[in-house]
Amino acid sequence: MTTSEKTIPQAKAKPVTAPVIQGMKGGAKICCITAYDYPSGLIADQAGVDLVLVGDSLAMVVLGREDTLSVTVDEMVHHTKAAARGVKRALLVADMPFMSFATVDRALDTAHRLMGEGGARAVKLEGGQTVAPQITALTEAGVPVMAHVGLTPQHLARFGGFKAQGKSAEATRVLVEDAQAVEAAGAFCVVLEAMPVEAAQVITEAVTIPTIGIGAGNVTDGQILVYHDALGLFDRFTPKFVRRFAELGDDSRKALEMYCAEVRRTTFPGDKNTFYMPTDEVAQVRKIKIKPKKK
Ligand code: KIV
Repeated sequence: MTTSEKTIPQAKAKPVTAPVIQGMKGGAKICCITAYDYPSGLIADQAGVDLVLVGDSLAMVVLGREDTLSVTVDEMVHHTKAAARGVKRALLVADMPFMSFATVDRALDTAHRLMGEGGARAVKLEGGQTVAPQITALTEAGVPVMAHVGLTPQHLARFGGFKAQGKSAEATRVLVEDAQAVEAAGAFCVVLEAMPVEAAQVITEAVTIPTIGIGAGNVTDGQILVYHDALGLFDRFTPKFVRRFAELGDDSRKALEMYCAEVRRTTFPGDKNTFYMPTDEVAQVRKIKIKPKKK
C-alpha cells in the first residue's frame, strides 16, 4: 500500500461532493460501492471509497427479493437514513426506485424524500434520453444526478433478463446518444452497466462527465460494485464482472457454527464475559429462597 492509498480517518477527511466527483474525469479512478445500512456505510467510508450508493439492489441482496422492481421509496428512505449515519466523507447517493421518477413531479418528490428525509447528497436514476427531462428538472432544483445507462435492471422485463448491452456498433451508437443526453441534461456522472469494453471506451470518450463502470471493463473513469457481491455475501448468482474480494458469507457461517458449539459445550460465556457479585454479597444471595410462582 502506498502513502496515497492509505485509509483516510473519517473525521479528518474533507467530504466528497458531486462537483469533486465530476472534476475527477480522466484523473484518479473513482472508487464506488453500494451500502444499505450503518455498518456497511461506515466500513465503506472508512475504507476510503469516493462514492457510496444506496442502490435499489437492496431489494435483492438485503431483502431477498427476485429483482429490484418492488422496492419502495419508503424502503429506500429507511436504508438511506441508516447508511447516512455511517458515511461521513464519501458522497452518499440514493437510487430512485422503479416508477418513482415516471414523471417530472414524481421525480422531484422522490428526490425531496431521499435527500430531505434520507440524508442523501445526490440521487441516481436509470435511463438515457427518455429520462432527460427528469434530470434537467432535478438539476435545476439543485439535486445532483448520477445517471445509469446500459443494462438498467429496472427495465428487466423489456430486456428479457440480466443481459449485456451495446454488443454491436449500432447498439453502442444508441448508448452514446443516451450518455450524451444525460450529460446535456445535467448529470454529474453516469454509470455504464454490463457492456463490452469497446462500447465503454467509446462512451467514455464521448462525454465530459465521469463514467462509472460495472461490467464495462477498466476503461471507465471509475468502478462500482455491489457490497454483498464484492464481499461474498450474496450467493444466488455471481455475475461474470464481479470479483469477490472476501468470503464473508463463509466466514460468518463458520463464526456462528463456533458460537453454537461453544454454547452447547458451555464454554461460552466464559469468565471474561461474565459479571460477578462482590464476595460478601454471594453468601447472602445464596440464602434467598424463591419458589417458582404457580401459573
Ligand atoms: O442498485 C445498484 O446497486 C446499482 C449499481 C449496480 C450501480 O444500480
